[in-house]
Amino acid sequence: MKVGFVQFKPQFGKVRENLQRGIELMKSVDADLMVFPELAFTGYLFEDRTELEALAEPIPHGYTFRTIQEAARETGTAIVYGAPEEVKGAVFNSAVAVLPDGGFFIYRKAHLFDREKLLFKPGDTGFFVFEFRGVKMGMIVCYDWAFPEATRSLALLGAQIVLHPANLVLPYAQRAMRIRSIENRIFTITANRIGTEERAGLKLTFTGWSQVTAPNGEALIEAERDTEAVMAVEIDPEEALNKKFTELTDIFDDRRPELYTAIVKERA
Ligand code: ACM
Repeated sequence: MKVGFVQFKPQFGKVRENLQRGIELMKSVDADLMVFPELAFTGYLFEDRTELEALAEPIPHGYTFRTIQEAARETGTAIVYGAPEEVKGAVFNSAVAVLPDGGFFIYRKAHLFDREKLLFKPGDTGFFVFEFRGVKMGMIVCYDWAFPEATRSLALLGAQIVLHPANLVLPYAQRAMRIRSIENRIFTITANRIGTEERAGLKLTFTGWSQVTAPNGEALIEAERDTEAVMAVEIDPEEALNKKFTELTDIFDDRRPELYTAIVKERA
């Protein structure tokens, strides 16, 4: 299975242009599965809720979803992207996986970062796994990286690949996702954006370095910090079914959930 990412710089609010550019970039590489960043086609720094609501779209009826669905059909590529999703007046920071046959899955970001808490509704989908071409995969969004429980949940549900659209501004997640790969023996795909947004009295620079990581923690491909990149790599997802470090050392069999009760309680 050939998997990869599109790392690019959307222009704030220019959804149609960003979609056109993003899809054009994606088509330059042949792959089974491509991941775009979080909020890939709207930009990130919304001034306020009114501006966010104006750019949010329902799924599957919105323009962005229909355009991506058409691109997935045309290219035979499963496409994962981040978008503000409008649901009955609320807006979720969602990741959408669209399969070439038109089927789709929506994950709504569980852990909202900083100002996102003032704009979005916390995700209500939880962590789930779906199958594409016989491979199990699941989604997290950006700051979800800081919660090993999120990726662990997906891995325990059988995910061989964790898909991670991101708008990262801190320099930690790319390193952390390599560790998520090792401790769960899975592949991960982090698609981050580049560029600087200066809006709402704030200035954010995104950290690029999109990557695909393997179960041994190695980055199989890695983009630069501040240049556009469309990259893909052939992986063998079956590798992620083997949870053994040694014959007698299986990272899942060796778990002691009865000792982890603090994890599922509120902070003391
Ligand atoms: C983030 O969650 N967009 C940092």
